[in-house]
Amino acid sequence: MSWDRFPQLKLFRTLRFRLAGTYLFIFAVVLVLVAIAGTTNLNHILESESVQTLDDELGALKGYIYFEGDTHVPYWFLDPSDPEEVNIRARLSDVFVIADERGTLDPLSSVPRSLAQLSNRNMIVKELELIRKTQEPVFKKIVSTDKIPYQVISSTLRDKDTGARWYVAEGRALVDDNTVRRTFRRNLLIYLPLALVLCAVVSWYSAGRALRALQSVDSAAKKVTGSNLGLQIPRRGADDELDRLIDSFNEMSRRLKASFEQVRQFSTDVSHELRTPLTAIQGQLEVALFTATTKEQLKEAIENALQDVERLANLVRALLLLSQSESGQIPMHKNQLDLGRLVEDIVDQFQIPAEASSLRLLHTTTQPVPCEVDRTQIERVMTNLLSNAIKYTPAGGWVKAYAEPLGNQVRLVVEDSGVGIPASHIPHIFDRFYRVPDPNPEKGLGLGLSFVAAIVKAHGGEINVHSDPGKGSRFEVLLPAGAVTASVPVRNVTSPA
Ligand SMILES: Nc1ncnc2c1ncn2[C@@H]1O[C@H](COP(=O)(O)OP(=O)(O)O)[C@@H](O)[C@H]1O
Ligand SMILES: [Mg+2]
Repeated sequence: MSWDRFPQLKLFRTLRFRLAGTYLFIFAVVLVLVAIAGTTNLNHILESESVQTLDDELGALKGYIYFEGDTHVPYWFLDPSDPEEVNIRARLSDVFVIADERGTLDPLSSVPRSLAQLSNRNMIVKELELIRKTQEPVFKKIVSTDKIPYQVISSTLRDKDTGARWYVAEGRALVDDNTVRRTFRRNLLIYLPLALVLCAVVSWYSAGRALRALQSVDSAAKKVTGSNLGLQIPRRGADDELDRLIDSFNEMSRRLKASFEQVRQFSTDVSHELRTPLTAIQGQLEVALFTATTKEQLKEAIENALQDVERLANLVRALLLLSQSESGQIPMHKNQLDLGRLVEDIVDQFQIPAEASSLRLLHTTTQPVPCEVDRTQIERVMTNLLSNAIKYTPAGGWVKAYAEPLGNQVRLVVEDSGVGIPASHIPHIFDRFYRVPDPNPEKGLGLGLSFVAAIVKAHGGEINVHSDPGKGSRFEVLLPAGAVTASVPVRNVTSPA
């Protein structure tokens, strides 16, 4: 069979072995129980049959024994010329004891020499006593000196004339019964192992069949490589455990494919982003090398190149941070703080750039917002949202930021009266390098919001965007407040900045 697809598995550790072993064990237990029950039953039947036979024979015997009128000696009342009656007498007197009340054997008895124990006077007297007390015949099993087992029934017989009690016993050899037992046992010993071997073969085969579908999963998994990720194993249609395993496998395969695609896309995007400034630097330096004649021209070229190098450095730094925060490598240092105060501090830092763009920048938190977050990372979120709001709001507009408690969450809002984001772009703005196409684009990497999303996710929060193109945008971040205690250093904000 093709089970050697799993050669590395030790046989006794295979599922197939264990399944078949379990079947076989259960079957063996059942068989042994059946054998025990069968043997017990057979013994029971043989025994009660033997008792019945002896009882019948004793009854018949009593009907054929009479006592002489004058001598009171027992005799067989049978016709010696009738072959049938002769037969009956021969059968009944096979093992036959008749004795008087003192235990003296009458010559009518016929006791084989090997059963001399039956004529023991003491025993006869004792049994007579027992029969008198219980009014029941006595059954006993004895073994002859030539090792043949016998069963013997003894009872009493009354001489109607004298009223004397006579002891009568009738025995039969149990050889036939034992032969039946032995045959039964021999058959058991032959057929039981045969049945077990058959069961072993059948269970090995059926366990193999049941597990064969596993091999399809195994071989499909072996075929998966980087280039055919997303490979699907066909369902068997049985809708059983294996089909569910196949479903999970297919699902995993799809997810892997999706994330591989994302990584591939990311690499392409990064190469693109890096190439632009590199080409620019190369161009500037080449031009300077071949055409610059004055010190000033050289200086200018170097300055331009440096600007692009700075852009490159920013990009690389941002990518590094982003990949670290997305893979959870940036350690979280949560502290208890007043989010309102944090927002106020950052808004303060942005007043100068806002004034430079002729914007009103407002901070409108009205109450303490205690929470437990990573200060540096939430500062990064605020910085990104505020710089976007300022960048995408034309002169004369406004930008508003505030925080507020919300049950066991806190809310952080940055609103602006800027250009807004068309609805079709909203689902993508958190993707890396995604920028809404713009005829005269501001310089940006398209990484800011990816960062924001990664940080919010790491905090277990969520971010929502509402935007009306031409009217403005509103970014709302919800974070779990965390375990805040009364001792959070808060400052009451009385008037909006
Ligand atoms: N406040 C906003 N108003 C209008 N558009 C915005 C705003 N914030 C973000 N966007 C859009 O989302 C895009 C992605 O933002 P971001 O990831 O920060 O990249 P970047 O700022 O470098 O362009 C931006 O290019 C811009 O089109
Ligand atoms: Mg940005």
